[in-house]
Amino acid sequence: MINTMCFMMAFILSLISYNILTEVTEFHPNCSDREPDYRYQVFAKENVFFQCPVKSSYNGNGTPFNKERTQWFLQKSDGNIKKMINGRDLKATKSAILLWFSPAEMRHSGTYLCTVDNDCIKLAVFVQSKDNCILPYGSSSLYFTTDKTKELISCPSQGCQQMKNISNVTWYKSDEFASVTSPERYSLTIINNVIQLEKIYKEDVGVYTCDFDVYINSSKWIVRATTKIEVGLPDTEKPPEILGPSNGTILTAEIGKPLNLTCRIRFGPESCFNPVIKWKSMYPNYEKEHSGGKELCSNITVIGEKECFLTITLDKVTENDIVAKFCCYAENAVGNVTTVVTLSLKQIDIVFLTYILCGAVLLLTILLIGSGMIYLYWIEIVLLYRNYISKDETIGDDKDFDAFISYASQGSELDMETMESYSDKYDEERFAIQLLPDVLEDKYNYKLCILERDILPGGAYVEDIAKIIKRSRRAIFILSEKYIRSPKVFELQAAITCSLEEQEALKLILIKFKPFKEPEFLPNVVRKALSTLPMVTWKGDLDSKTSQNLKFWNRIRYYMPVKKVQISGKRSLSVFKHK
Ligand SMILES: *[C@@H]1O[C@H](CO)[C@@H](O)[C@H](O)[C@H]1NC(C)=O
Repeated sequence: MINTMCFMMAFILSLISYNILTEVTEFHPNCSDREPDYRYQVFAKENVFFQCPVKSSYNGNGTPFNKERTQWFLQKSDGNIKKMINGRDLKATKSAILLWFSPAEMRHSGTYLCTVDNDCIKLAVFVQSKDNCILPYGSSSLYFTTDKTKELISCPSQGCQQMKNISNVTWYKSDEFASVTSPERYSLTIINNVIQLEKIYKEDVGVYTCDFDVYINSSKWIVRATTKIEVGLPDTEKPPEILGPSNGTILTAEIGKPLNLTCRIRFGPESCFNPVIKWKSMYPNYEKEHSGGKELCSNITVIGEKECFLTITLDKVTENDIVAKFCCYAENAVGNVTTVVTLSLKQIDIVFLTYILCGAVLLLTILLIGSGMIYLYWIEIVLLYRNYISKDETIGDDKDFDAFISYASQGSELDMETMESYSDKYDEERFAIQLLPDVLEDKYNYKLCILERDILPGGAYVEDIAKIIKRSRRAIFILSEKYIRSPKVFELQAAITCSLEEQEALKLILIKFKPFKEPEFLPNVVRKALSTLPMVTWKGDLDSKTSQNLKFWNRIRYYMPVKKVQISGKRSLSVFKHK
């Protein structure tokens, strides 16, 4: 039992030791045992980087070209070697994998190995504190504006060395370790190890690395430091600009609902960018500055210009907020700007409402005018309609006359002579025998039945009259006191009976030719008919020349059967002839 356990333990141990062995031996660069090829001094809290400086990694132009084949190792103080992984203290650039401390810390001091193919280089790196410097350590980042001339970049570590006789400084630009002067940069000169830029270009942006040699105990050390150069437009001379909301904006809000207020501001370029953005609300009695909103700034296309946002949230809009002014305040080194926003309660769009109201009023007016017109001109409209669209209803109905005319003729009068003047006496006759046919027959092509003219001038029998009425489509009664009191009322009675009996009803047209009183003796049917049937009142003057053109005739035609009128010269001629 114990034996087995021991065996197991030994087996596990051997597995572990085998693994450790393989890890170390697998990546054993062949330069690990020799003295460092290069010794570097760098400074804590500075960004520094190292290229694997093997000869074979440079192609003909001296440009490093070893990205895929470079490997970095850390040799610990006990001699163990550990492969370094990208991302942690290593950084892949366009063409190389760099040992990259950002920033360097004391723990980075140590021995590093790098290999490209079979070449192996050993680097000793010593991180020291800037506090040990005699003169202050120079700027590790500088901001130049394009309007400036003669800007200087000096090696920041230069004043830090106790050693007097330092070598010339070698300058590289950016992380590809290109010479600062390549590509050709005419207004850049290096005088006394200091870079002088006669003119500033956007392209001068970058990381500048300076190296110089010092000897400590007869060993050569390279002191390496970097300076980051930023280039911007000259400082703005304008206060910031609020892009939105514009001054006087009224936002719609709902009481009790949350509301976001966002201010958008553009800041001009500034070497010392220190924007102030605030939302303030001014209530009638007090002011309040909103905190908690977080401003977000980002570079926009133009170099050095920035756009910032500040959003605050009103958790619940109150009635107080509706009367408040909300101010967005922005300030830079030059000045300040403010825009004021107010809230209004959400309501139906007034403009929209106005449109609807106007539309409704307009529609109502049109309807009113329309119905008024229809009311006024209904008869004309119907007549027009009949003239152009309706069918002729007289065709094929077996009737001979369009209208039977009943009027108080001379023979039918009782004892009215005394009440009337001579001309009045013949009015009905003139109307019935002259004007009526003139208009209806000659002008509108109707065929009338006037007993005295068309049947028997002397009068007719009762039965005959009933028959004749039945042969007519309409019966026109020219009512007056004389008519009502004459035996002619019998014709009216007959027509009423006929219209009640018949299916294809005869229709009665009552013309109130002269005012009359209904006498007691009138038959009941006649009385009823007089009170219910529509009556057209004659208001014209028989002697007037315009008596043919009265509106009265339109009403009569309206009650007459639908018959196509031929608007032709022939009819006009016939009218002319009759006149
Ligand atoms: C904003 O600028 C005006 C001058 O334009 C100045 O009078 C005012 O004091 C400034 N406001 C703040 C808060 O600095």
